[in-house]
Amino acid sequence: MCGIVGYIGVRQAQPVLFSCLKRLEYRGYDSCGIAVAGSRIEICKDAVRVAALEKSAPQLAGATGIGHTRWATHGAPSLINAHPHPDCSGKIVVVHNGIINNYQSLRKQLTAEGHQFISETDTEVIPHLVEKYYRGDLEKAVEATLKEIDGSYAIIVLAANESKLIVARRGGPLIIGVGDGENFIASDVPAVLDYTNRVIYLEDDDMGVITADSVKVKRDGVEVSRKEDKILWSMEDAQKGGYEHFMLKEIHEQPKVIRDTLIGWVSLSEEEFDLASMCGGIESMLILACGTSYHAALVGKYIMEEFLSIPIRVELASEFNYYAQALAKTGAIVITQSGETADTLKAMKKLKSVGCRVLAITNVLGSSASRIADHTIYTRAGPEISVAATKSFVAQLMVLYWLAVSYSRVDARRLADMIIQIKQLPEKVQQVLDNEDKIIESARYLSKFENVFFIGRGINYPLALEGALKLKEISYIHAEGYAAGELKHGPFALLCEKTPVIAIVAKDSTYDAMLSSIKEVKARGSPVIVLTEEGDEAVEELVDTVITLPQVDPVLSPVVNAVALQLLAYYVARKRGCPIDFPRNLAKSVTVE
Ligand code: AGP
Repeated sequence: MCGIVGYIGVRQAQPVLFSCLKRLEYRGYDSCGIAVAGSRIEICKDAVRVAALEKSAPQLAGATGIGHTRWATHGAPSLINAHPHPDCSGKIVVVHNGIINNYQSLRKQLTAEGHQFISETDTEVIPHLVEKYYRGDLEKAVEATLKEIDGSYAIIVLAANESKLIVARRGGPLIIGVGDGENFIASDVPAVLDYTNRVIYLEDDDMGVITADSVKVKRDGVEVSRKEDKILWSMEDAQKGGYEHFMLKEIHEQPKVIRDTLIGWVSLSEEEFDLASMCGGIESMLILACGTSYHAALVGKYIMEEFLSIPIRVELASEFNYYAQALAKTGAIVITQSGETADTLKAMKKLKSVGCRVLAITNVLGSSASRIADHTIYTRAGPEISVAATKSFVAQLMVLYWLAVSYSRVDARRLADMIIQIKQLPEKVQQVLDNEDKIIESARYLSKFENVFFIGRGINYPLALEGALKLKEISYIHAEGYAAGELKHGPFALLCEKTPVIAIVAKDSTYDAMLSSIKEVKARGSPVIVLTEEGDEAVEELVDTVITLPQVDPVLSPVVNAVALQLLAYYVARKRGCPIDFPRNLAKSVTVE
């Protein structure tokens, strides 16, 4: 998820581009750049934040330009990989948000035709394709280019001696900010609100020809009309896409995150990464992480032991550094959203120092973890602004499912069924998001308590831990997650009508034992709220409040349960008036030990 902008009008483009880009940094901020068309096109870009580039940039004269702030997916953050990207002549320049799936084959073909590539990005194929088809008509050249690329995109094309900008979208958001004698283009509304609140939303497969005085939108070469909306949101609201908090916005992004990660599966299997070669000669596997990523690691253990039939050990990275462990013949996976968590990085260095092969699963390209690891798999969650990890957790689970499915040793029919179910997950998660009423009601009830327990068994024991962590970190309620079987070994002493229990029930081998645990908890006077799949009459008879979730294979239930638990914590914190996105005493990336 990057932010792209364009301007064509009467003002000097440079200051407009920088101010619009600064409003989009919540979409990505690892590098940025602008290109301005004056007597010729000049590009200024680097692996810095927008404000830093604005300070160091030379004066680029011209009233037409494009800009980009990046969230790297292909090619680590660097000056070379930053956008805009030019063609060989430097006369055609492009900014892009999205992922071109077939970029490797296009690159090979264009290189054979004499085009020189300088970056590692997927985007760079676009300006070279436009160059290939350009015969004086920029619109036609872009139309021909769009026919060749497969993937998601929002693009703006700037060309020398052309008093227009060409834009197009498929899968990436794009809006036009309408001005008087000038027009603005951007990935999202916040970018243009300082200049205009008249906005046209482009739809998928729209292509636009934008001049200073006109906006023309086409579909399959035919002109179509698009209505102009008047935006009444504040800047902050706009950056949250109309949601009250980044956390709620990020929770609602999860169906798309799962789809993007599934699309990523294709390119993952194309890349050289091969778990088998990485695991060659290893006798045990270790997964290390902290916080929410540690809970993903625990779910990973259940998934990978079932599908790969290899023993998996999961350790807290912050504790691992004190173990005198025999690590010979050990392969390690580290999971870290930010890629900068000090405890996790220290553990990685310890592993490397004793010759362990390390695979990192991270959300940030070019992060320290990706530099230390032997191999890196990137989650496709996009930038996560809210301190509480939500979409990054689900994206981590999707990568762990991919590893399990790709190297699975289970029978083909089980595997085929699993893949079908995984592809249905975006819709299942959308169902959870569309039916949040019961969760809001339960949250209102829970918000008045100061102590809450979460219980689960098997693959949902880590979800009990995650549910408790989410509630703790944003609502300041003291919450504990427990393996349900552990309650009778002590915590039972704390159960009473003031200590509600959230029980996570799945239709797997833990089902009957979970029902007994619920009965034992109720017998000690605690109110019980259960998360279970729709149509579970046995549970409905048993407890006060049931949050029903769409039916999925129990191995996939952590995904729908995670979303429900995130919403529960969010609405409890909202009811209690907590500063949800930036809770006290916490940081998004913990860079100290
Ligand atoms: C989760 O909501 C917290 N932000 C925190 O526990 C986090 O998961 C932990 O600090 C690990 O961060 P990482 O995934 O970036 O390494």
